[in-house]
Amino acid sequence: MKLWTGRFSKEADKITNDFNSSIGTDKRMYREDIQGSIAHATMLGIQGIISQDDAEKIINGLKEILADIDSGRLEIDMSAEDIHTFTEGELTKRIGDAGKRLHTARSRNDQVALDVRLHLIKENEAVDELLCSIISVLADMGEKYAETVMPGYTHLQRAQPVTFGHYMLAYAEMFLRDRERLADCKKRTARSPLGCCALAGTTYNTDRNKTAELLGFEGVCHNSLDGVSDRDFVIELSSCLSTIAVHLSRFSEEIILWCSHEFRFIELDDAFSTGSSIMPQKKNPDIAELVRGKAGRVFGDNMTILTVMKGIPLAYNKDMQEDKDCIFDAIDTVKACLTAFIPMLETMTVKSDNMRKAAAGGFINATDCADYLVSKGMPFRDAYKITGGIVAFCIEKNTTLEELPLDEYKKFSPEFDEGIYSAVDLDRCTVNRTSLGGPAFENVKAQAKRVKALIG
Ligand code: ARG
Repeated sequence: MKLWTGRFSKEADKITNDFNSSIGTDKRMYREDIQGSIAHATMLGIQGIISQDDAEKIINGLKEILADIDSGRLEIDMSAEDIHTFTEGELTKRIGDAGKRLHTARSRNDQVALDVRLHLIKENEAVDELLCSIISVLADMGEKYAETVMPGYTHLQRAQPVTFGHYMLAYAEMFLRDRERLADCKKRTARSPLGCCALAGTTYNTDRNKTAELLGFEGVCHNSLDGVSDRDFVIELSSCLSTIAVHLSRFSEEIILWCSHEFRFIELDDAFSTGSSIMPQKKNPDIAELVRGKAGRVFGDNMTILTVMKGIPLAYNKDMQEDKDCIFDAIDTVKACLTAFIPMLETMTVKSDNMRKAAAGGFINATDCADYLVSKGMPFRDAYKITGGIVAFCIEKNTTLEELPLDEYKKFSPEFDEGIYSAVDLDRCTVNRTSLGGPAFENVKAQAKRVKALIG
């Protein structure tokens, strides 16, 4: 049954029906559709736009439909045009004429905008919960590996010492910002478009603040044209999800590198890796690779909604029906990525010895050698140059700053004395980096504590 057959003399062609239909996608919002309709009917009753008796019949009917869909007693009819048509049709089937009064002072344009907002708020919270889980795992790791020295990199070249705990907490910071972005996006999503109607409001004495309040919104969309046309909240969530996907993808890339034979910094648990059908020695980081790959899909979803919206005039246009497939896909993808990534992270083995060996071999204490000369009164630029010469000499002699004899040091500068060995000691190099946010062990433990406090 169509909601709009009045002015038509012919049935729509099957091709038109199939092409037009969105039930396959919007059936996912049945709960929100019913929730919105209950609020609308309640308001219509309070305002005397429909009788209290009809309002009650509608509300009870809708509650029963919801319970029946939830329990599986009622199946959503996939031949309906959309979820709004289905619920209204089912309601009228059950309660008769009163059901036909539900759509007074409402259009599917404000209805769908409302359903999407309600649904995205719920999904926003579900993603946030997963972010809390990953942050909590990272905070635990931050604490556990606060003293596990490893090389930090720039240009993927060993640069300066950090700790594995410090590294994990860097990702915790990214996910904390993702949470802030989601919370901010949620504020703007929680505005009610209900009552904007088709585009130009209504002549009925509706109470939009009442429906907004009943639905738990922070307020209403203040312009009826904007209320039905705005999909910024979809764009915003999609862009928040893209940023989460960037973070997960970078993290995945590190994990893929770290479990390679070249690094051997970590080993993934057998339960969270896969084998090769031909190469018996292989243990592949498939989850991390898929997460890295799926980021592309989430960005694609973001590009879809931007492109759908960029050229359409106010107010509602059918193009906007395309908003749902992409945002639902982005949500499901990011949720699936986080769900697989978290246990993979939790169960991986950290190979502290290999990290330490890598830290010892890459002259990551060269800055500390230069800083040692600076502490003797030498300008940094000169100290930098002398240290560069020492590093080149060590490379030629196949030795390290820790092992170079003092008389060799002295050939580069008379300022060197026994103190150089504690200055270039790896632990000390790390422990001394006490600047705010740096990798000194105590600093890292404090960072972990701060993160834990933030997620409660
Ligand atoms: N399925 C439509 C959508 O998702 C619902 C709104 C239909 N409105 C209309 N004027 N045809 O956008």
